[in-house]
Amino acid sequence: MLNNPDQNIRLDYNNMMKEFVGSYGFTSDDFTALTEKIDAATAAMKIKREQGFMDWRDLPHNQEEVVDEILAYAAENAGKFEAFVLLGIGGSALGPMAVQQAINHQFYNELPREKRGGHPKFYVVDNVDPERLACLFDIIDVDKCLFNVVSKSGSTSETMSQFMIIKQMLEEKLGAGNVHNHIVCTTDKEKGNLIKIAKDEGYKTFIIPSGVGGRFSQLTPVGLLPAAFTGIDIRALLAGAATMDKLCKADNITQNPAYMYGLLNYLAMQKGMPMSVMMPYADSLKYISDWYAQLWAESLGKKYDNNGNIVNVGPTPIKALGATDQHSQVQLYVEGPYDKIIVFIGVDEYRKTVTIPKIYSDISSLGFLGGVTHNELIAVEQLSTEHALRSAGRPNMTITLPSVNEFTIGQLLYMFMVATAFAGELLNINTFDQPGVEEGKNATYAMFGRPGYEDKKRELDARPAKKPAYIIG
Ligand code: PA5
Repeated sequence: MLNNPDQNIRLDYNNMMKEFVGSYGFTSDDFTALTEKIDAATAAMKIKREQGFMDWRDLPHNQEEVVDEILAYAAENAGKFEAFVLLGIGGSALGPMAVQQAINHQFYNELPREKRGGHPKFYVVDNVDPERLACLFDIIDVDKCLFNVVSKSGSTSETMSQFMIIKQMLEEKLGAGNVHNHIVCTTDKEKGNLIKIAKDEGYKTFIIPSGVGGRFSQLTPVGLLPAAFTGIDIRALLAGAATMDKLCKADNITQNPAYMYGLLNYLAMQKGMPMSVMMPYADSLKYISDWYAQLWAESLGKKYDNNGNIVNVGPTPIKALGATDQHSQVQLYVEGPYDKIIVFIGVDEYRKTVTIPKIYSDISSLGFLGGVTHNELIAVEQLSTEHALRSAGRPNMTITLPSVNEFTIGQLLYMFMVATAFAGELLNINTFDQPGVEEGKNATYAMFGRPGYEDKKRELDARPAKKPAYIIG
């Protein structure tokens, strides 16, 4: 699987072009008109990488030791736990969920252990909905689980509160000195509370490199550790990312899939199409859209540009699933406002084949399905939706994976990360901060009276009281 060119993913943007979709599409003149901007963005991508502002770009190449350590730790713990439970949120949870869903069996947790390759079940708790955690406790025995606390900042309320609950439960079951084998932390090497607690209490810890932000961290131990525990080939994942990195070094936009993807999205925004629908035609890729939605929205939705001007820019990512959402959202995409582009993710070879039996041949509305595979049906449905959109003048593009495996998923994740950074350069914004997210985190701290957040508390206390007149029921 490593470095197999038959497994290189493809970006097909024919249907983004005017000659295919008409007036909402683009021409090569649109690209030429942006030459200066594209050159500046390309140069900035290089300089920022060289100057260490994009450490995530080097992750496919510089983690041999980390990978060895992760694999050794997973091997040491093989067979010891019934479940691996990840506590994290946002960039500390979405990547692990996406890769797990993509690579492993669709009903992984329901399989008997031997069919899971002896690996533990896998759960992610990425919310503080009390019902979710309480329900998890109905199906796991905490003393038979390994809890992976993932937080770059080491202070996120959701994650740290889950950790506090779990630690207390473990102590009650196992005794105060016996919990450290059930907790593994993934965090920054010095910032935040989690690293301090991990050191004080002796938890095994994996480090998120300081220059890698949450939503760009899937290829660090954030994603690699849970993947290794559930039998995913993390070396192939990184090899896929390394292969894509080679392509992403091309300055020529027509040879660089990530730059082209970023540019097409930028042009779409300029032409009044800021909605960007991601529609994989594979259930295994469903959570790639969730991971991507965070990457795209949190990185590119910004109030200020790099010169301090208020710009309020950003594309709106929308998640869809083919063929399921043909029966819910596609009507809007074909006939609604011309404010969106659609990105299909297709698969050449699915890992299973399901054939429809040749029955009901006397009923014309069913007979044509006899002998057809679901593989053919889903592929044809994807083409049909593409055709419907193209005929209606709706720009769309397709990324195709020869098959879903670690190597292709590594390519896909890396391509989207580079595309995001490139789109950020075109938009002239800071792709890597998230002041809007911090605002919400700070308001939570203030409402709970956390020291240091008194000004925010005063601001919150002064917010206008809600009028009962505007509340119904
Ligand atoms: O991308 C980001 O920076 C955020 O989504 C974070 O991943 C999220 O807020 C969780 O933060 P942390 O990993 O510090 O707990």
